Amino acid sequence: MTDAAPRPLGVYVHWPYCGRICPYCDFNVVRDRGRAEERRALADAIIADLEAQRRLTGERALLSIFFGGGTPSLMDPAEVARVIETAKRLWSPVEDLEISLEANPTDAEADRFAALAEAGVERLSLGVQALDDDALRALGRNHDAGAARRAMNVAARTFQRLSIDLIYARPGQTDAAWRAELAEAIAFGPEHVSPYQLTIEPGTAFDRAVGRGTLVVPDEDLAATLFETTQTVLEAAGYDAYEVSNHARGEGARSRHNLVYWRGVDYVGVGPGAHGRLALPEGRAATLAHRAIADYVAAVRGQGVGFTREILSPVEAAEERLVLGLRIDDGVAFAEVAALNLTPDAAKVRDLADAGLLVADQNRLRATRRGRLVLDRLTGALAT
Ligand SMILES: C[S@@+](CC[C@H](N)C(=O)[O-])C[C@H]1O[C@@H](n2cnc3c(N)ncnc32)[C@H](O)[C@@H]1O
Ligand code: SF4
Repeated sequence: MTDAAPRPLGVYVHWPYCGRICPYCDFNVVRDRGRAEERRALADAIIADLEAQRRLTGERALLSIFFGGGTPSLMDPAEVARVIETAKRLWSPVEDLEISLEANPTDAEADRFAALAEAGVERLSLGVQALDDDALRALGRNHDAGAARRAMNVAARTFQRLSIDLIYARPGQTDAAWRAELAEAIAFGPEHVSPYQLTIEPGTAFDRAVGRGTLVVPDEDLAATLFETTQTVLEAAGYDAYEVSNHARGEGARSRHNLVYWRGVDYVGVGPGAHGRLALPEGRAATLAHRAIADYVAAVRGQGVGFTREILSPVEAAEERLVLGLRIDDGVAFAEVAALNLTPDAAKVRDLADAGLLVADQNRLRATRRGRLVLDRLTGALAT
């Protein structure tokens, strides 16, 4: 018998309710209509589903718990505490277990931050999105810039760790305005910033407005300029771009939970529509929870599990490692993408390296800053 430490994993908890549905969002969300019974039933189902996942994973080290959404800051803090306690009981928490929760910056939610911290949340990921009232209105947000500023102040006082999300490449945004907005956001002192380029997701209200011609987003050149500005401003302020859209003040400020995804570590996903990835004796398993709240709750009640699972083929697993690994600065090991026949000497690796999009040594493949700008094209070229 060896005493090898159990394989690590992260836990993702999806809470789908939102105060208002934003017109650009394609996450699995529903409007919160204050149905307390339904919310309680969902929390019970999430707890039972965690137990089902434990039967599948066996003993594991617990690296992180991430409450995402939707808007988990609308969750009852007592339910947040119950989920945290359950995950900690089922797996073996590491000493520096990371517990994060996504929040919207409304005044009502900022009033609940202390209770969420009390429940065990130590890292808040706050969806500031913009610090400009017109932009927030255009994004259909249920808060203004003043509320976002107040929420950042409360969050910085209440949680050990603060991350903020921003959206850029918005309609009508100029480079100078984005530079000023980023500078203001940084001044609140978050240890981590996630600036996302606005994506027009198929089927959203923004997608329909772009189709009608009533919404015009920045062209590719302006979007590239805004990306460059993001890198330069954040770098100068001491934030490393350790992933395409994630910047942290030092290694300790990186999101351990997101690194779980990008490094191909296992994770359990519970709650409607949540994904999971687990190394099982039969191969790399992809789990997928039922998307509709009622289906999810019914499945957990009826069959004891809220998810289905399939085993990925070696090529599918390697493609996923490539797509995720190239997002981060440590890249991906050739050994992990062997099923794609990628080696340091493969012609496509050399060609893309010559074009300045990749760097490769004998062991690893990494995207350069230019490569990260065209990541979809890069991974497409490598995977075919
Ligand atoms: C799951 S959302 C939830 C967080 C929280 N409910 C909120 O809206 O603040 C996580 C982040 O994804 C980003 N996001 C969502 N849809 C996006 C889109 N279409 N384009 C760019 N970023 C998007 C936003 O920055 C958001 O904070
Ligand atoms: S962006 Fe956030 S608040 Fe808006 S619908 Fe999506 S998850 Fe909900």
